[in-house]
Amino acid sequence: MLRAKIIATGSYAPAKKLTNLDLEKMVDTSDEWITERTGIKERRIAGEKQTTSDLAYEASKIALKQSGLKAKDIDLIIVATVTGDMPMPSTACLLQNRLEAKKAAAFDINAACSGFLYGLSVAESFIKAGTHKKILLVGAETLSKFTDWKDRTTCVLFGDGAGAVILEATEGENCILSTHIHSDGSLWELLNLPGGGSKNPPTKESINKGLHFLKMKGNETFKAAVRTLESLVTDTLKANNIKPSQLSALIPHQANLRIIQATANRLGLSMDKVVVNLDRYGNTSAASIPIALDEAVRTGRIRKDDYILLEAFGGGLTWASALIKW
Ligand code: UT7
Repeated sequence: MLRAKIIATGSYAPAKKLTNLDLEKMVDTSDEWITERTGIKERRIAGEKQTTSDLAYEASKIALKQSGLKAKDIDLIIVATVTGDMPMPSTACLLQNRLEAKKAAAFDINAACSGFLYGLSVAESFIKAGTHKKILLVGAETLSKFTDWKDRTTCVLFGDGAGAVILEATEGENCILSTHIHSDGSLWELLNLPGGGSKNPPTKESINKGLHFLKMKGNETFKAAVRTLESLVTDTLKANNIKPSQLSALIPHQANLRIIQATANRLGLSMDKVVVNLDRYGNTSAASIPIALDEAVRTGRIRKDDYILLEAFGGGLTWASALIKW
């Protein structure tokens, strides 16, 4: 039976750092509040002309190099993002052009912070079906461009970056064991970016009302995330007959350290098994898991035969998980 395997990873974050101390000068906040409530210390900010596809391109080049494949070998490109370069064409098509991956079909996925794991689920299905054999999956965001820098309840949270993986078919047992995707559209108002679509097309009024900035009911989202992730991670392990003690690493979406700790507690995992980098990047939405995965691979935290659990929660609402035998 064909299964999907991640054969290479790559990530990229813009050079510019914005620290909590920088934010203290911009809005009524403090390093202490941000650190205690979120765990974030600094985040990266894209340059004025730097787009989501630019970040995706840098991360993809690294993953391709590691894989030993050429761009022309890739037959599908999926980009998970809510901050694409333009509403149309897809950021995946722009990336295909930059990479000169001429053979590849390309499309975007919008599942907010769960986007990378939704993409992993789609990529896994395409590989299992045998229709595509070498897939480039990228999570990339420039949330800084959709952030209201006067709104302290959101602007301290988000950052920019991209992470990429290359997937290939395998018949071996080192592969993606399962993926799980879920949504609850009734809670869409908890986290949204209301402007720029057919509901609120861009007008002077929509700009004045701040509709092109991300909105979040933080505390309600927090509670929904903790509740949902607890059952998601236990169900994912159960579906594979794996005990938490067999896990080598948990790679969570990097939204809030307290959410991450609650999920680890539920599994009885000590925090040294949990990959955390939100102190350095903030919440990079769809990019957060592939950046953390890439760092874990490169620093040797993940080794062959390790069981790794990935989980995410975000706007939609959406939530998703994957269990991998590395
Ligand atoms: O990635 C997708 C999913 N996203 C998430 O999962 C994020 C989920 N939410 C969170 O991470 C947290 O809810 C936040 C970090 C956003 C907020 O933490 P909280 O513990 O839920 O705080 P809160 O929203 O209940 O606000 C507590 C207080 C409020 O003041 P009052 O009303 O108690 O006087 C806020 O106005 O903190 C105030 N506050 C701030 N104070 C200083 C809100 N933002 C700030 C700030 N600096 N940046």
